[in-house]
Amino acid sequence: MKKPLQLRTTLVGALLALMTTLPPMALAADSVASQTQAWSEQAKSTQAGFTPSAERGKALYFKTFKVSAEFPNCAACHTDDARKEGKHAITGKKISAMAPAVTADRFTDAAKTEKWFRRNCKEVTGAECSAADKADFVAYLSSLK
Ligand code: HEC
Repeated sequence: MKKPLQLRTTLVGALLALMTTLPPMALAADSVASQTQAWSEQAKSTQAGFTPSAERGKALYFKTFKVSAEFPNCAACHTDDARKEGKHAITGKKISAMAPAVTADRFTDAAKTEKWFRRNCKEVTGAECSAADKADFVAYLSSLK
C-alpha cells in the first residue's frame, strides 16, 4: 500500500512543479504580432477602425524633430536602413538592426520594447509615442525584408 501512495505523491508533486513553471514561460512569449495587437486595441479606443500603417511608421522613423541636435530622428541611431546595424549617435555603441527580418528577437520582450519606446520617443520627439505610433513604427520595420 505504501509504495503506490508514495508514487502518487511524487507524481502530484511533479505536476504541481510543472504547473508553476509553465505560466511565466507562456507570459514571456511576446511577439511582433502580440504587441501589435495590444497597441491596435488600445488605439481603437480613440481612433475607430485603426489599423497599423507601415507608411505612417516610415514617416515617424524619418521625421526630423527639433528636440535634440545630436539625434533629430529615429534613424540617427537606427540608421537610414533599419536592416543594417545601427550606432548610438553619441556613444558610438553598436545597435542590432531594428528589422525583425534581420534581428530575430526584436519586439519579443514587451518590457524591453516599452522601455525603449518611452526613452527614445521622449528624447527624440519630446513626448511619449502613442499606441498607434508604436503599431505603425513596428509595421514599418516588419515590412522590411
Ligand atoms: C540616441 C540613439 C537612439 C535613437 C535616436 C533612437 N533609439 Fe531606439 N534604441 C536605441 C538603443 C541603444 C536601443 C537598445 C539596444 C537594442 O535594442 O539593440 C534602442 C532600442 C529601441 C527599441 C527596442 C526594440 C525591441 O527590440 O523591442 C525601440 C522600440 C526603439 N528603440 C524605438 C525608437 C524610436 C521610436 C526612435 C525614434 C523616435 C528611436 N528608437 C530612436 C537607441 C536609439
